[in-house]
Order: sequence, then C-alpha cells, then structure tokens
Amino acid sequence: MEQFKVVMNDNEIPTQWYNIQADMPTPMKPPLHPGTGKPLGPDDLAPVFPMNLIEQEVSQERWIDIPFEVLEKYLLWRPTPLYRARNFEKLLGAPVKIYFKHEGISPAGSHKPNTAVPQAYYNKVFGIKRIATETGAGQWGSALAMACKMFDLECRVYMVRVSYEQKPYRRLMMNTWGAECIPSPSTLTNAGRNVLAAHPDSPGSLGIAISEAVEDAVTHENSRYSLGSVLNHVLMHQTIIGLEAQKQMKTLGIYPDVVIGCAGGGSNFAGIALPFARDKIHGKKVTIIGAEPASCPTMTKGPFAYDFGDLAKMTPLLPMYTLGHDFVPAPIHAGGLRYHGMAPVISHLVREKVMEARAYDQLETFDAGVKWARTEGFIPAPETNHAIAAVVDEARRAKEEGKEKVILFDWSGHGLVDLASYDAYLSGKLEAYELPDEEIQRALKAIEGLPKP
Ligand SMILES: Cc1ncc(COP(=O)(O)O)c(C=O)c1O
Repeated sequence: MEQFKVVMNDNEIPTQWYNIQADMPTPMKPPLHPGTGKPLGPDDLAPVFPMNLIEQEVSQERWIDIPFEVLEKYLLWRPTPLYRARNFEKLLGAPVKIYFKHEGISPAGSHKPNTAVPQAYYNKVFGIKRIATETGAGQWGSALAMACKMFDLECRVYMVRVSYEQKPYRRLMMNTWGAECIPSPSTLTNAGRNVLAAHPDSPGSLGIAISEAVEDAVTHENSRYSLGSVLNHVLMHQTIIGLEAQKQMKTLGIYPDVVIGCAGGGSNFAGIALPFARDKIHGKKVTIIGAEPASCPTMTKGPFAYDFGDLAKMTPLLPMYTLGHDFVPAPIHAGGLRYHGMAPVISHLVREKVMEARAYDQLETFDAGVKWARTEGFIPAPETNHAIAAVVDEARRAKEEGKEKVILFDWSGHGLVDLASYDAYLSGKLEAYELPDEEIQRALKAIEGLPKP
C-alpha cells in the first residue's frame, strides 16, 4: 500500500534550527533606531527582549542548537506528521500530489508554540518573570500562555478587539493556561488610550496591540516583550517545520516542485519555506509561494520601505513590505493575517525572487477550506485556508499547463476555535473584500518622510 503519512520517531527530531542569514544571496538592510534613524545595535533592544534572544536575532550562524529543555517540550507534539492529501487531490482532478505538514496537532492548535516555547525558555534563563505580548486571532496568545506556564512565567496578552469578540474560546484557552487576556485597544496603556480617544469603536489591529504590549513590558519590572512573528529569531525557531518536512519527503524519495505557506507576519511561511529557500539559493528548482489576504495585501501591493512594526512607532524601523503602520485591516476572519508589514527576511527573499507572493479573497479561501474539510476531514484555521486556496490555484495551473507537480504546504493550524467564521461563511454572511487602491495610497502617507531602504 502506498504511504499516506510519514511519522518520525522522537529521536529523529531535528536538534538545530536553521538561520538563513548565513545563506542570504545579498546582505539585508539593517533595522534602524526609531529615534535616531541609525542602524540598531543589540543594546537598543535590551529593554524589550532578553539578551540571549537578541543574540539569536543578530546571529549569522547557519545552525543554532535547540536547548534540551526546549526539545523536551517540542516532543509533546513534534515531530508532526507529513500527510498526503489523496482525497483533496481527487476532488481537484489535477496532475498534482499534495503533501502537508500538520501543525494543528500542537496543544494550542497551530505552529505558534514552535517559537513560544523557546521564547519562554530563553526569558526564564535570563531571569525574566513576566512576558507581555499581543495576539491577532488568539493563536499566538494561547501558544505563549501555554509556554509561559511550562516555564513558570506570568503572561499578559493584548488581543485585537475584533478577534477578542469573534473568538471568546481563545481567551478562555489563555485563561486556562493561566494568562491574562485584555481586549486591545485598552485603557491600560498610553498607546491604547490614545487610540480610544480618537476612535472609541476601534476594532483594533496588530499594530495597536503591539504598541500596547511593548509599552506594558518596558513599564513593568522584570518584564519583557515577546513577538509571535516578523523577527529573525522567531522565523528561525519555525524552521523546525521545514527541516522535518525535508527529512520526511526524503524518506519518500521526493522533492517538492512548489512549497506554500500562508503569511501574516511571515513566520509560518518561513517555517516551511526557509530550508527549501536555502536549497533554491544553492541551485535547486523550487517555486516558493506565500499566500496573503486580498484585504491585507502587504507583499502583493505594498512597497518595500522602512516602516515601524506598530502604530505608536515604538519598534525599530524595519526594511519590509508594508501598507503603512497606521493601516487598520478590514475585520476579516483570518485575524492572524491582518498585519500591515511582513518579516524583513521574507521581504528580502521576495525582492530577491527566491520567493513570491499571491493574494486571495476570504470567500475563495473559505471555499477552499470547506472543500478541504469535506475531503480530508481536518477543519483548517481561516489563516490556513489561504494556503489551501494557493494549493487550489497551483493545481489549476498544473492542469492548464498539463504538468505534473508535487506540492508541499504548511497546514498551519486547525479551525476548531474559529467555527463562528465557518458559520458566517456557510450562512452566506461572509463578504468578499479587496483593499481599494485609494485606501492603500492613504495608508502609505504614514511612511512618507521615513528613511528609504
Ligand atoms: C493558524 C495560523 N496560521 C498562520 C498564521 C500566520 O502566522 P505568521 O504571522 O507567522 O505569518 C497565524 C497567525 O496567527 C495562524 O494563527
């Protein structure tokens, strides 16, 4: 019988993360200090992150050892299985073989614990007692809540208000793991109060919630901030996904023609894609696609520019694709993809044409996700549905071109806490929404006058 899934043993788990900095085809632009506009030094980040994570952020080493204490926690759900989506392939009727990494089996239900666990660990080792963070859909907040409990740290999560209201169960997961969850914008920070004064009904955004969490961390004793995406060290922690996938595909004697991940801040996409991007930089032929929402088309419509990661301009200026730091995306259901910027590493690789990006409307993504659930069983997160829409798109292209293709994608999380969004889709209440060009031009005014990369 043909093998449908590859399950690795505990002792086959990768013991190092991959750092693409060592293989970049051209040097990346440095992040800049938000006040001086000069390249940022490690000490500038010290009030916000513990130094052991800052060292990872700036490291140029190709391989970084995963501490034993982190591996021990990873083994609760890793290595994750690699599946072949035979039934979905049949439905599509295209000449494609589709493989997916199932990151939805983690305790929090997505890829996010892959970085939450090491971030909590490194904070603990550095002597930190409390972590503040933000969350969009609640996947990151719940992952960090769990990881903080594992290492006995306090945790406060600022959750984008629209998601807080759409997804009460995510808050309850955070509470169950012992964390506090606050709807953002809140009255607990200057950043939140300023937004509420101007827009009392603000649905919130990741940019606002980041400002609140950073402010919270730097104004509380023994606290640090933690980010669930965008930064180099976060992307590096996620490479365990792609490294496992490479081993698993090798046991099947295959290599993908196409690698796909959905992208919010870029860590999930990076996780599956960076080990394959390394191969591509060294000559291998593989198409690498990041799938983003048409309502927040950072890579497909935004310029590559220096911009802040947050609304209150507290973060460094990052060289990235951006829609402007005061952009508030429409309240679509894929809360984890509603971010105005994109990880500098991903932005750089898209500019270098190692990777490419495509945008999908939420109706198209739910259509793909429901087809998936009805063939493969597992109900995907709304974010994951963007990757599935890209798989459908690639399968259609393969059919048109009459070419056989092997597609690998990251099934980044399950949608069992997102069923309200399926309810909206199934009852015809979900609307298509493409961001109008005028709105992009308006939002981009926020970056006028900032340094140019
Ligand atoms: C299930 C799922 N997939 C993908 C993403 C996007 O993650 P990233 O910001 O790492 O691109 C998220 C973000 O919350 C998510 O919850």
